[in-house]
Amino acid sequence: MDLYEVKFEPDQRKIQVRAGTTLLDAARRAKVPIRTRCDGKASCLMCKVEMGQPTGLMPPNKQEVLKLGSLVHSGIRLACQARVNGNTTVIVPEDPLKAAIRKQLARKEQEDDLF
Ligand code: FES
Repeated sequence: MDLYEVKFEPDQRKIQVRAGTTLLDAARRAKVPIRTRCDGKASCLMCKVEMGQPTGLMPPNKQEVLKLGSLVHSGIRLACQARVNGNTTVIVPEDPLKAAIRKQLARKEQEDDLF
């Protein structure tokens, strides 16, 4: 069976997986955290990822198209539904809680620099 490389940005973690593996499974094996609430049932929409280059994924399935609507045409996929079919790069969005903490720390640093 064919093996393909999936690269996760911005962590730059890579893993080789078999064709047909979901991005969520690949991410778990590569120890890249992708948030989920429905555990891969295409209902929480928390596992959205952005496609990079190359984009070696199977076309979105009916459920993914239904859930993502027009987002599917702007390079957004559901990690739990998107299946690998070639070498792929995926951009995983930053966890919203981590992003909020990072922004707050940056703001505090700026304030400290003023005094
Ligand atoms: S894990 Fe919930 S939609 Fe993908």
